[in-house]
Amino acid sequence: MFRRLPDGDRAVALTVTIDGQRYGARTGDTVAALLLLSGAKATRVSPVSGEPRAPYCMMGVCFECLVTIDGVGNRQSCLIEVADGMRIETQKSRREAGR
Ligand code: FES
Repeated sequence: MFRRLPDGDRAVALTVTIDGQRYGARTGDTVAALLLLSGAKATRVSPVSGEPRAPYCMMGVCFECLVTIDGVGNRQSCLIEVADGMRIETQKSRREAGR
Protein backbone atom coordinates (compact mmCIF):
# COMPACT_ATOMS: atom_id res chain seq x y z
CA MET A 1 0.00 0.00 0.00
CA PHE A 2 2.79 2.44 0.84
CA ARG A 3 5.64 3.11 -1.57
CA ARG A 4 8.46 5.57 -1.84
CA LEU A 5 8.22 8.70 -3.91
CA PRO A 6 10.77 8.90 -6.70
CA ASP A 7 14.01 9.92 -5.01
CA GLY A 8 17.06 8.86 -6.98
CA ASP A 9 19.58 10.48 -4.68
CA ARG A 10 19.15 8.27 -1.68
CA ALA A 11 20.12 4.64 -2.23
CA VAL A 12 19.32 1.82 0.17
CA ALA A 13 22.33 1.98 2.46
CA LEU A 14 21.25 0.63 5.83
CA THR A 15 20.10 -2.78 7.01
CA VAL A 16 17.75 -3.21 9.95
CA THR A 17 15.63 -6.05 11.26
CA ILE A 18 11.89 -5.85 11.85
CA ASP A 19 10.61 -8.73 13.95
CA GLY A 20 13.67 -10.71 12.91
CA GLN A 21 13.43 -10.06 9.15
CA ARG A 22 16.06 -7.98 7.39
CA TYR A 23 15.08 -4.83 5.50
CA GLY A 24 17.01 -2.24 3.56
CA ALA A 25 16.51 1.37 4.58
CA ARG A 26 17.72 4.77 3.50
CA THR A 27 19.48 7.34 5.60
CA GLY A 28 16.84 9.70 6.95
CA ASP A 29 13.99 7.17 6.97
CA THR A 30 12.02 7.13 10.18
CA VAL A 31 11.31 3.79 11.78
CA ALA A 32 7.55 4.36 11.31
CA ALA A 33 7.98 5.08 7.60
CA LEU A 34 10.05 1.93 7.17
CA LEU A 35 7.44 -0.12 9.05
CA LEU A 36 4.72 1.16 6.73
CA LEU A 37 6.87 0.50 3.66
CA SER A 38 7.56 -3.03 4.91
CA GLY A 39 3.84 -3.75 4.92
CA ALA A 40 3.44 -3.95 8.68
CA LYS A 41 -0.24 -3.76 9.56
CA ALA A 42 0.37 -2.70 13.18
CA THR A 43 3.20 -1.47 15.35
CA ARG A 44 1.63 -2.52 18.63
CA VAL A 45 -1.60 -3.73 20.17
CA SER A 46 -3.70 -1.76 22.61
CA PRO A 47 -3.01 -2.95 26.17
CA VAL A 48 -6.69 -2.32 26.98
CA SER A 49 -8.60 -3.84 24.06
CA GLY A 50 -5.92 -5.86 22.29
CA GLU A 51 -6.77 -4.08 19.02
CA PRO A 52 -3.92 -3.50 16.56
CA ARG A 53 -2.61 0.07 16.36
CA ALA A 54 -0.53 1.73 13.63
CA PRO A 55 1.23 5.07 13.06
CA TYR A 56 -1.30 7.85 12.59
CA CYS A 57 0.02 11.40 12.99
CA MET A 58 3.67 10.76 12.01
CA MET A 59 4.72 13.75 14.12
CA GLY A 60 4.94 12.58 17.73
CA VAL A 61 1.46 13.46 18.95
CA CYS A 62 -0.72 10.32 18.97
CA PHE A 63 1.61 7.65 20.42
CA GLU A 64 0.09 4.99 18.16
CA CYS A 65 3.47 4.09 16.71
CA LEU A 66 5.19 2.67 19.79
CA VAL A 67 7.70 -0.10 19.11
CA THR A 68 10.65 -1.75 20.78
CA ILE A 69 13.98 -0.62 19.36
CA ASP A 70 17.20 -2.40 20.32
CA GLY A 71 15.44 -3.86 23.35
CA VAL A 72 13.97 -0.58 24.62
CA GLY A 73 10.16 -0.51 24.57
CA ASN A 74 7.64 2.28 23.97
CA ARG A 75 9.77 4.24 21.49
CA GLN A 76 7.89 6.59 19.18
CA SER A 77 8.87 5.18 15.82
CA CYS A 78 7.77 8.27 13.89
CA LEU A 79 10.40 10.40 15.65
CA ILE A 80 13.37 8.05 15.33
CA GLU A 81 15.57 7.72 12.26
CA VAL A 82 16.75 4.25 11.34
CA ALA A 83 20.36 3.33 12.02
CA ASP A 84 22.37 0.53 10.51
CA GLY A 85 21.87 -2.71 12.46
CA MET A 86 18.85 -1.40 14.36
CA ARG A 87 16.62 -4.14 15.79
CA ILE A 88 12.95 -3.14 15.58
CA GLU A 89 10.20 -5.20 17.17
CA THR A 90 6.48 -4.58 17.09
CA GLN A 91 4.95 -4.58 20.56
CA LYS A 92 2.55 -7.41 21.27
CA SER A 93 1.41 -6.16 24.66
CA ARG A 94 2.28 -3.64 27.35
CA ARG A 95 5.83 -2.58 27.82
CA GLU A 96 7.58 -5.47 29.49
CA ALA A 97 9.39 -5.05 32.79
CA GLY A 98 13.11 -4.57 32.22
CA ARG A 99 12.64 -3.01 28.78
S1 FES B 1 2.54 8.28 14.63
FE1 FES B 1 1.68 9.59 16.13
S2 FES B 1 3.21 9.69 17.67
FE2 FES B 1 4.10 8.48 16.12
